[in-house]
Amino acid sequence: MKNTDTTTLTKPLRKKVDFNDYLSSFTKKYGTYGVVGAAVVGVIVPVLFSSILMGKKKGKKRGVPVKVGGEAGYTVRNARNPELVQFPWEGATTIAALFEQCCEKYSRNPCLGTRKVIKKDFVASSDERKFEKVHLGDYEWQTYGQVYKRACHFASGLVNFGHNVDTHVAIFSETRAEWQIAFQGCLRQNVTVVTVYASLGEDALIHSLNETQVSTLICESKQLKTLAAIRTRLKTVTNIIYFEDDENVNISDLFGSTSGWNVSSFNEIESRGERAPVAPCLPSKDGVAVIMYTSGSTGLSKGVMITHGNIVALAAAVMTIIQGLGRNDVYLAYLPLAHVLELAAESVMLSAGCAIGYGSPLTLTDASSKIMKGTKGDASVLKPTLMAAVPAILDRVRDGVLKKIDDMGGLAKKLFYFAYKRRLQAIEGSWFGAWGLEKWFWDVIVFEKVRSALGGRIRIMLSGGAPLSGNSQHFINICMGAPVCQGYGLTETCAGTAFTEWDDTSVGRVGPPVPSCYIKLVNWAEGGYTTSDKPMPRGEIVIGGYSVTSGYFNNPEKTAEVYKVDERGMRWFYTGDIGQFHTDGCLEIIDRKKDIVKLQHGEYISLGKVEAALLSSHFVDNLMVHADPFHSYCVALIVPSQEVLEKWAKEAGIEYKDFPELCDKAETVTEVQKSLSKVAKDVKLNKFEVPAKINLMAEAWTPESGLVTAALKIKREQLKTRFKDELQKMYH
Ligand SMILES: *[C@@H]1O[C@H](CO)[C@@H](O)[C@H](O)[C@H]1NC(C)=O
Ligand SMILES: *[C@@H]1O[C@H](CO)[C@@H](O)[C@H](O)[C@H]1NC(C)=O
Ligand SMILES: *[C@@H]1O[C@H](CO)[C@@H](O)[C@H](O)[C@H]1NC(C)=O
Ligand SMILES: *[C@@H]1O[C@H](CO)[C@@H](O)[C@H](O)[C@H]1NC(C)=O
Repeated sequence: MKNTDTTTLTKPLRKKVDFNDYLSSFTKKYGTYGVVGAAVVGVIVPVLFSSILMGKKKGKKRGVPVKVGGEAGYTVRNARNPELVQFPWEGATTIAALFEQCCEKYSRNPCLGTRKVIKKDFVASSDERKFEKVHLGDYEWQTYGQVYKRACHFASGLVNFGHNVDTHVAIFSETRAEWQIAFQGCLRQNVTVVTVYASLGEDALIHSLNETQVSTLICESKQLKTLAAIRTRLKTVTNIIYFEDDENVNISDLFGSTSGWNVSSFNEIESRGERAPVAPCLPSKDGVAVIMYTSGSTGLSKGVMITHGNIVALAAAVMTIIQGLGRNDVYLAYLPLAHVLELAAESVMLSAGCAIGYGSPLTLTDASSKIMKGTKGDASVLKPTLMAAVPAILDRVRDGVLKKIDDMGGLAKKLFYFAYKRRLQAIEGSWFGAWGLEKWFWDVIVFEKVRSALGGRIRIMLSGGAPLSGNSQHFINICMGAPVCQGYGLTETCAGTAFTEWDDTSVGRVGPPVPSCYIKLVNWAEGGYTTSDKPMPRGEIVIGGYSVTSGYFNNPEKTAEVYKVDERGMRWFYTGDIGQFHTDGCLEIIDRKKDIVKLQHGEYISLGKVEAALLSSHFVDNLMVHADPFHSYCVALIVPSQEVLEKWAKEAGIEYKDFPELCDKAETVTEVQKSLSKVAKDVKLNKFEVPAKINLMAEAWTPESGLVTAALKIKREQLKTRFKDELQKMYH
């Protein structure tokens, strides 16, 4: 027998290469002709094919019309499932049952991963402020089996600690593994969990805990001080459980012995439970699992009651949508778990046996602000395959990458933009170009570097919370080489109601309804939107099905206003958003009822539409357009991009003392306004839609200031109140 050299049969592993190294080694190996040849194969051939195949992309039906009960309208369901799905599989009717079954099924698979702090440091910036920097270690994993045990121990410990199971528990903490464990523990004792944003103000916290009569509050040790200070206003609370991470906290120092509160660490509760197990008391399908306080854009926050049935239906639906979701997937969790998007996403991941690695927005990448120089961010250590993001974060990623490319300049910059343009044409044009050889070519020589910022393995990026601009969607899609699946949903509909399918490369749409609900459009005559509109039916978006929650806690009036039950017993939620259905059954959000104002001369102006359009000016970081019925024009408050503005000022030779002064200068205002007019013209806004006056605000709007939501959506009412004078000035 012949002796074969096996080494020649195994392919060498592809190494990460720098473009210049790549090019020179390639030239050395294959000569200049080789390079030209590769270019011909890589670029020109696909160009030819693209032209041939252009326009032949099949109009795949993703959603189809369906007959339903309730108010008349145009209703669409997911094309693949004639019947709405309610459970992932038989017997998984509650989150608790689903979790138990998954933990058994995947018991040896990694479930939750966390990074330990190796070193902590404070670095002073130029303006004397101190910034915390951390050096974090590798992910340490617990299996599904281990996590299940911990949740059971916590459930028993909670009862042993004296929590009255007929009262509520609240979790007030940033996203972390213990959050999920505590959550699952509570549900095993049929205890409803109240969630509150960690960044929500004090008054909102006190309001929500009092309204839901919370007796046990779970928090992080760094919040104990704040809680001690407002102790007398938290009348219903008797027990505090804190996640132990700061050894310096001294409980008796903080609370004394006379506080009337029983305080215990999370670990103590777990050990209590382990020592004295208590039988579980499993919930039922229609039981309320979570009362989630939404950081609504207006007024006091409202508690949305999300049932077990809502969440399991959503998990069942999303599992059918994400291709091949399973144990090989790694999900990077860093958005607030008090937001329905993250809670829903993690619930889906757990149902499918994925590994969840926890991180935070400030430690996400190597370049994140809290990461110690020279150490690794969450994404580069975890190398996730799935991530969720809100548009504001994706916009930042895009700006960051573009800035780096611009700084590099020269050939690298030219090449990047050329490659980007080719990919964009391919995505918009042809199937072949989108997935073919040319894609591989550009990926290897240009985009692999960009991709490594998020670990290099992302296969699907989920986006939700607010509409994502087409620009950002394309950018992430091309640079990450992964589809961006945009979702549409509200807390009231338990997140996902529509979801872009992974092979849909169009932008600006949110996909067909998920298989757990129907989406109906109903006429809104006042705003001029009807289901008989051409070329597409338009109207207010109404959601029906298993993901529709059971209403607002302790607020039957408000619940009756926006939730309806039809003659067949199906629940419908009136979103107040305006949408239209494309012929393939995909939904596009085009407006919001509340944001439409009738101007003095009778024209309707959609503030949201104008804002979305003007955001694409590179001077604008955020803005609010304002209009009132007593005037014929609109005005805008604008948070300009400090970096772009200062760069412009330098080039234009404008002198200024500090940024606020630069914002006040007439030249600056004129320049920004010019840019807005240009953008408005490009997207064909009407004249009355272009702000006649603007005010540049030097200070950014943050969730902490209460001016934007945690997803960085503007809060119109709060902004209007805070900047009443500025707005009035622009009208006089
Ligand atoms: C669970 O709690 C709900 C009230 O929140 C109650 O109606 C239901 O009967 C409880 N289930 C069990 C099994 O005790
Ligand atoms: C707490 O709730 C009760 C009613 O349940 C109400 O009377 C009281 O004013 C509330 N207190 C605060 C501080 O919100
Ligand atoms: C906590 O503070 C109390 C009173 O100030 C003190 O007696 C006790 O030793 C402290 N405990 C620890 C662990 O530092
Ligand atoms: C604290 O716990 C002890 C027993 O663990 C109990 O006797 C006491 O009533 C509790 N205090 C409060 C305020 O719940």
